[in-house]
Amino acid sequence: MFVQNEKKILLLGGTGRLGSAFNFQFKKDNIEYLSPKKDELNLLDRKSIELYLSKTKPSFIINCAGLSILDICEREKEKSRILNFELIKILNIYSTETKAILLTFSTDYVFDGLSSPDHSYSETDEKKPLSIYGSHKSDMEDYLLTEGKNFFIIRISSLYGVGINNFVFKGLKNLIQKKGETIEIVDDEFISPSLNLDVASFSIFLLNQNNKNYGCYNFFSYEGCYRYDFFMKLKQNFITFLETYNFAYKDINPIKTSRLFFESSSLRPKNSSLNCRKLESNDNYLNFIQFKRENELIFFRHLLKDDLKI
Ligand SMILES: NC(=O)c1ccc[n+]([C@@H]2O[C@H](COP(=O)([O-])OP(=O)(O)OC[C@H]3O[C@@H](n4cnc5c(N)ncnc54)[C@H](OP(=O)(O)O)[C@@H]3O)[C@@H](O)[C@H]2O)c1
Repeated sequence: MFVQNEKKILLLGGTGRLGSAFNFQFKKDNIEYLSPKKDELNLLDRKSIELYLSKTKPSFIINCAGLSILDICEREKEKSRILNFELIKILNIYSTETKAILLTFSTDYVFDGLSSPDHSYSETDEKKPLSIYGSHKSDMEDYLLTEGKNFFIIRISSLYGVGINNFVFKGLKNLIQKKGETIEIVDDEFISPSLNLDVASFSIFLLNQNNKNYGCYNFFSYEGCYRYDFFMKLKQNFITFLETYNFAYKDINPIKTSRLFFESSSLRPKNSSLNCRKLESNDNYLNFIQFKRENELIFFRHLLKDDLKI
């Protein structure tokens, strides 16, 4: 783990869906870190960021901040540009000057998703974003890949996990609550979903490696699958985990994207699955894989105890 006395960690966006998993992992491993909330550090304000960096002098910056709701990015383009792109320029200037390591996140939405599901996108595939969000993230990637030195970009697809109240949470909750609601999960979006705890463990793993191979990496917990089918696989694992519990099964219905996300349906790539061949070719990656199963169990336990109070 990080050498604490010498190396200060700064976590930005610690209150978000991904940031909360870093909080979880750092607390579990007793790692000290800084994680200013929005009222302490407004990331729309360049001067405040520069001042904060010069005062705190972090050696690692993990940036989970951003604006990733598609409709909001379309409506608030300038805000999206600042949080998804300009912020990284400021962090990169600091990181290049001080040799601090910057780790930030990108998205499968840099692709148009028009390829067939037997093609999962690699790090070098041509990008054609459909949305403002995707294009600001793509600009951010291009900038770091040309100007950055000590950086990791981790590209992820749909997140689920601790602290995320999305279709996975609702679906698993549905399995164990007798009065669960019937939920709908789209069956025409091909994705490679990531457990937020896996993303955090993997990022920490990358930052701890002695020989850092900087650049852009795709990452996922489950390889390419339709959203509905992914849920069914996860549900199977959850049922195995729940063997000692009695649960009532409620229907989980497949539905088309255009019916569930009518406003943003055209902005969502149909196939945005990523491949991890670049990562898998790294010998050390195999050491990481063992954590994945453990993280899934941690997530299930957290869901039962902390979220559902069972
Ligand atoms: N969620 C996904 O499925 C997904 C998929 C692919 C890639 N990603 C990428 O993963 C990263 C994290 O996404 P996420 O889903 O965790 O995002 P999120 O839940 O929306 O969290 C965003 C974080 O940024 C903070 N933030 C926003 N505006 C700020 C401001 N002006 N000043 C300070 N902090 C501000 C938020 O703070 P407040 O809570 O105070 O607003 C929050 O902590 C992003 O780069 C995203 O593009 C996410």
